[in-house]
Amino acid sequence: MSDDLVSPFVEDAELDAEASVRPRRLADFIAQHRVRDQLDLLLKGAMGRGTPPDHILLSGPPGLGKTTLANIVAAELGAGIRTTSGPVIERSGDLAAILTSLGQGDVLFIDEIHRIAKPAEELLYSAMEDFRVDVVVGKGPGATAIPLDVEPFTLVGATTRAGLLSGPMRDRFGFVAHLDFYSPADLDALLHRSARILGVPITADGAAEIAGRSRGTPRIANRLLRRVRDYAEVRGNGVVDEPTAQEALRVYDVDALGLDRLDRAVLRALIDSFKGGPVGLSTLAVAVGEQSDTVEEVCEPFLVRAGLLARTPRGRVATEAGWHHLGRTPPVDGRGGVVQGDLFARDE
Ligand SMILES: Nc1ncnc2c1ncn2[C@@H]1O[C@H](COP(=O)(O)OP(=O)(O)O)[C@@H](O)[C@H]1O
Ligand SMILES: [Mg+2]
Repeated sequence: MSDDLVSPFVEDAELDAEASVRPRRLADFIAQHRVRDQLDLLLKGAMGRGTPPDHILLSGPPGLGKTTLANIVAAELGAGIRTTSGPVIERSGDLAAILTSLGQGDVLFIDEIHRIAKPAEELLYSAMEDFRVDVVVGKGPGATAIPLDVEPFTLVGATTRAGLLSGPMRDRFGFVAHLDFYSPADLDALLHRSARILGVPITADGAAEIAGRSRGTPRIANRLLRRVRDYAEVRGNGVVDEPTAQEALRVYDVDALGLDRLDRAVLRALIDSFKGGPVGLSTLAVAVGEQSDTVEEVCEPFLVRAGLLARTPRGRVATEAGWHHLGRTPPVDGRGGVVQGDLFARDE
């Protein structure tokens, strides 16, 4: 996916560029007003009482600000932050070592928390609830559990797949925030802020053009801004304006809705190979040569949100707008997967 300009996943080379525009405090975090407001209350309430706030779960598609918010939580609390991720914690001992080394009031950020191994997850329960863990020493009948205290801490968990979290896990979070795709107006404000920080001159039309093609995702907006800046500096007059943005995004193969090659491939396969569906996720993923997870977590949320694809009990279907977006005419006789209003009408 390295040539994939609108992939919301982070690539190493881009980390530095991202870090410079990443907001540090809640006041700098653009949009998501409801989540911001709720977090503000949660943090101020806890600080007023002098105790760590409840554990916080952040869910939503990649690139919407989960990692940013986790760091903001620690900054607002004036607390230290330890960062790890679900797939990294293979053994419960790894997690016990992290938990017992936390300082009073620290934030523990576990990214992709839905991928944590089961034994570690169970250890996490007692740490979250009672601030203690039982570390098992030895094996078989001679094994003993040594209880260890954990300093009061706040767990911030992030997940792109809230649905994959176990019930007991979800229940232990006192606050769950779901981050939604950003509106073009929000991304517009974000782009002006980023351009200011990067020292890139940008016009209102230029920002609007990029905002409209950023798939509702701040990480993509920032990335497109950097690519358009390259284009403006190399082939233009250094200013990010509307014609420059349009020209640059054409060069980078980002279409009018912000769909990239993979998004279009998914839609095209759905329409051309499966007559618009319904078709199962794994079949569709094989057709475009991608992992099911990537199609489901990266492409689909935005295709659904843009109204181009729908998930039905019988599989994925292309909507009328999906056919039109590729310049095709949807079948009129009810054949194919075109969704006309009622998603479940075709269920037998
Ligand atoms: N609300 C926001 N305001 C300003 N910038 C944001 C916001 N949300 C995300 N960003 C930018 O987008 C980038 C990706 O956000 P990140 O927190 O890494 O997303 P996630 O962890 O959800 O994948 C960050 O580097 C940050 O610069
Ligand atoms: Mg992240």
